[in-house]
Amino acid sequence: MTDQYAVIGNPIAHSKSPLIHRMFAEQTGQDISYKAILAPLDGFAATIERLRAEGYKGCNVTVPFKFEALKLATRIDPHAEIAQAVNTLKFDNGEIMGYNTDGRGLVADIQFNLKIDLKNKNILLAGAGGAASGVIHSLATMGARVTIANRNVEKAQILVNRFSHLFAPNNNAEKKSPTRNNALSYADLAGQQFDIVINATSASLTDSTIPLPATIFAPGALAYDMMYGRDTPFMKFARTHGAAVVADGLGMLVEQAAEAFYLWRGVRPDTAAVLKKLRA
Ligand code: ATR
Repeated sequence: MTDQYAVIGNPIAHSKSPLIHRMFAEQTGQDISYKAILAPLDGFAATIERLRAEGYKGCNVTVPFKFEALKLATRIDPHAEIAQAVNTLKFDNGEIMGYNTDGRGLVADIQFNLKIDLKNKNILLAGAGGAASGVIHSLATMGARVTIANRNVEKAQILVNRFSHLFAPNNNAEKKSPTRNNALSYADLAGQQFDIVINATSASLTDSTIPLPATIFAPGALAYDMMYGRDTPFMKFARTHGAAVVADGLGMLVEQAAEAFYLWRGVRPDTAAVLKKLRA
């Protein structure tokens, strides 16, 4: 019996998850099927109910349903609890188990694929929405110092307050700012430099850029856009303003998928081989 899985979102047509999971299955010899399913905006719970009735074993959840998935889960893992978002569900003996593998996916991509150690790095996370909140915990627990910049500083401050136990003071702020704050506006970034700048805003979706100072990249810095599938204005900006490494979010997508695959199947796929094929 082939075990059935899916990714649920709205929109969903662009999703690379079916291709990635089919490659994982082929590589590891797991007998699974994996589909992309478009759920109506007001029909996420009904879609999950249908899949469970049809005997599906689990699914991935993407925009805009990650918070609804958290509410629907009967049990959630600490990553999902902290992020207040679920991107992976496992249907298990009447339970709906909720997980969040986004943060671990980002960390795995930076550490293993890009080979950049996160310990003691000064990280700027641009954005304070769902994408940012999903990765803060994983970044901070790797020993990085995380600062959040957002147009709406209040939203950045809410995230910093929620994760306050994880925040070491921003090194730059120690030197430059009497507030030593980790929640900043883009204007507050003037004169500051970071080892890693992560674009977790949705600006790239509309091909807009984020107003970073031209001197934001420290020598050897990594610029990371959580978007994938195109060269974004942020990536172009990074390349022309001194970032040493510029990456899109394809590696994160593959790594978070591998974490989900492991949760479902207990087998770890070789992500490097899949990433190489996708890039080709
Ligand atoms: P997601 O779940 O993708 O994070 P979201 O919760 O709607 O989506 O959050 C979008 C994030 O992108 C926010 O941090 C938003 O900034 P504001 O909170 O100030 O609105 C940010 N964002 C979107 N477009 C942007 C742009 N053109 N420039 C800078 N930030 C942008």
